[in-house]
Amino acid sequence: MADRPTLTTTAGAPIPDNQNTMTAGERGPVLLQDYQLIEKLAHQNRERIPERVVHAKGWGAYGTLKITGDISKYTKAKALQPGSETPLLLRFSTVAGEQGAADAERDVRGFAIKFYTPEGNWDLVGNNTPVFFVRDPYKFPDFIHTQKRHPKTNLRSPTAMWDFWSLSPESLHQVTILMSDRGLPVAPMFMNGYGSHTYSFWNDAGERFWVKFHFKTVQGHKTLTNEEAESVVGKTRESYQEALFNTIENGEFPKWKVQVQIMPELDAEKTPYNPFDLTKVWPHADYPPIDIGELELNRNPENYFAEIEQAAFSPSNVVPGIGFSPDKMLQARVFSYADAHRYRLGTHYEALPVNAPRCPYHHYHKDGQMNFFGQKTGNVDAYYEPNSFGGAVEQPAAKEPPLKISGDADRYNHRVGNDDYSQPRALFNLFDDGQKNRLFNNIAAAMAGVPGEIIERQLAHFDKVHEDYGAGVRQALKEQHGYEANAIPVTGKTPQEAAE
Ligand code: HEM
Repeated sequence: MADRPTLTTTAGAPIPDNQNTMTAGERGPVLLQDYQLIEKLAHQNRERIPERVVHAKGWGAYGTLKITGDISKYTKAKALQPGSETPLLLRFSTVAGEQGAADAERDVRGFAIKFYTPEGNWDLVGNNTPVFFVRDPYKFPDFIHTQKRHPKTNLRSPTAMWDFWSLSPESLHQVTILMSDRGLPVAPMFMNGYGSHTYSFWNDAGERFWVKFHFKTVQGHKTLTNEEAESVVGKTRESYQEALFNTIENGEFPKWKVQVQIMPELDAEKTPYNPFDLTKVWPHADYPPIDIGELELNRNPENYFAEIEQAAFSPSNVVPGIGFSPDKMLQARVFSYADAHRYRLGTHYEALPVNAPRCPYHHYHKDGQMNFFGQKTGNVDAYYEPNSFGGAVEQPAAKEPPLKISGDADRYNHRVGNDDYSQPRALFNLFDDGQKNRLFNNIAAAMAGVPGEIIERQLAHFDKVHEDYGAGVRQALKEQHGYEANAIPVTGKTPQEAAE
């Protein structure tokens, strides 16, 4: 025992007994003055923090971004210059499930990266899909409500999901990806990542370019069928955590090829689609992906809670040379994440070691709960700005070039004049017969218990994508549920109806 450290209180005093509560007599009762007992119970009561409102279940690791290509004519970002190596944290996640959800569930996967660059943290908070279900952030909370539990039954509701999707045709592209093979990867290293939104690059000359980021798995795509996933979940609910942790622990470091698509600023006025619409991809033929380097994961966190649960990613974290775009969804996200972190982690979430920049940083935020860092300016007399005491000052070289915008303030109907069918059709046409059949069957399985009128409304959208799409889902519905057009499904009442 001599070489073991002494157990202490959090105040540093030695603890003489960590086995027996202090009582009045051998049988009790317990004395209120047993402060250490109270301390242990009180700490335990505070071990949980709110889980993320979405993307609660996640798996993460550290790694490196190595840039080999030369895109210096598009961006001045130091982390993207040829030869640069940037440390990073990557957290993967599912969207809908709670923290205890099984990993092998059909869902979109989060692909959130924090690059610790020499100019500050750059967070690229993307998914494993290049598009999203909605294009207007006004609809994001509604969409998420359909993915979460019904208020009365406390069950996930396929009726809510298909009701919303069938009333929101902009979701077709993402729904097709979600229900395809890509909607259920075997493990994080067998899927791509996408920045999804259109972002900006800007260079030293003040020129702006639009950019999309892609991370292509070097391990190749591996996916599970619904049946395979059932057997995985029957054996372990933690298949992603096990795969990612053990792979890295064994020294087999997963890698992704990093690519960008670049669009000159003025092209945005010419494309037949809105390049800032998150439900659309940019055709590769028009804007070919350019290889710029490799992302590797090579280190597991030491403490899951401190480094993965407390990780706070935000699309608002950009660095000189990288900027936003008019994408409405992106702009809402620029606000939403820091707000979520202040609620989930506290005012000074960015001072936590996993979130703190690895470059010098100086700001004038002051005081507040859990401020353990004092004044970062390093000068007690410079706690406001401007000041005469040598405090940190702004850096005009970091100024982004002006963004050209115009237009009347209004609420523009985002469903008017938007083609929601061509891009899902192009994707559908890429699938071979086996992929199409699995798509039809996955959709039919996900529609169990959904009322006929909602199913018919959704089938009409599939018909508009491709007649084979609608026909294939109809056939699968018939085979799985005995469903005939407009019939109430054989599975009977939805959980909501049963509860009402
Ligand atoms: C997590 C909001 C759309 C990817 C979150 C969180 C919020 C949020 C509040 C929880 C943050 C936390 O507590 O740490 C929104 C809003 C959106 C939106 C308001 C649309 C208006 C998107 C899109 C993507 C995305 C389009 C991907 C392209 C993610 C990821 C996470 C996340 C990956 C988990 C980050 C992590 O690992 O900590 N989102 N989101 N979200 N979101 Fe979104």
